[in-house]
Amino acid sequence: MANPLDDPTVDPFEIAKQAAEIIATKSGVAKHDIALTLGSGWAKAADLIGETVASIPADEIPGFRKSQVVGHVSTIRSIALPNGKYALVLGARTHFYEGHGVRPVVHGVRTAAATGAEMMILTNGAGGIKTSWAPGTPVLISDHINNTAASPIEGANFVDLTDLYSKRLRDIARTVDSSLDEGVYMQFRGPHYETPAEVQMAKAVGAHLVGMSTALEAIAARASGLEVLGLSLSTNLAAGISATPLSHTEVLAAGKEAEPRISALLAEIIAKL
Ligand code: HPA
Repeated sequence: MANPLDDPTVDPFEIAKQAAEIIATKSGVAKHDIALTLGSGWAKAADLIGETVASIPADEIPGFRKSQVVGHVSTIRSIALPNGKYALVLGARTHFYEGHGVRPVVHGVRTAAATGAEMMILTNGAGGIKTSWAPGTPVLISDHINNTAASPIEGANFVDLTDLYSKRLRDIARTVDSSLDEGVYMQFRGPHYETPAEVQMAKAVGAHLVGMSTALEAIAARASGLEVLGLSLSTNLAAGISATPLSHTEVLAAGKEAEPRISALLAEIIAKL
């Protein structure tokens, strides 16, 4: 199926509205409250937070693509939470490095807003710059540096990004685990990992985590009025911080190892929202 977002004349918010309508029809859930994008290491949280009401293949929903990354699942799930709310789990993340532009990258977030969600939880696997973070350490995102030279905002819409990563939601997360550290996430375009010099640049400008997602999605979330909680799993020390070279297999393995622990943590956080 051709992706409607490939047509530059199309209004991406219209496609998001259509996607939300299909999700409502297929799930029978008229309004979702919380949306989640689960990155490397976080996927098991979907099984822990509540009862899955519907699991919809991403390619049956306008604007979504199947994930190209091994280990990433491509379904959109509607989950009934024990507190009566509904969560939408976006299992089909399009990364900026796939080269389809920014619209598909933020389509999940816009669709979440169109389903009625008020909160967006963005998770990812990232490289850690702080040596105190052993591989497998979850970190709250306190702010970001968007190093992609792109924005999801089109036209003269000057969105305020102060407190983009909600302090209120970070404080709630810390009531579940007071040892949760926080840091600034820097999004690179990828898909190559950073060079050690780039990691040193990231460190010098105030970043603590480097990765290839989240910042563009967070901007779109804020522009759509969503309150954002960001969580990184530091799967590895960033290039040059650790003496060993990076491998995607090892990043996935670190995610798998940490998955039960951090997924349970996320489920506990969601129960408090
Ligand atoms: N860099 C960028 N993205 C990542 C990394 C990294 O070191 N680890 C996991 N995702």
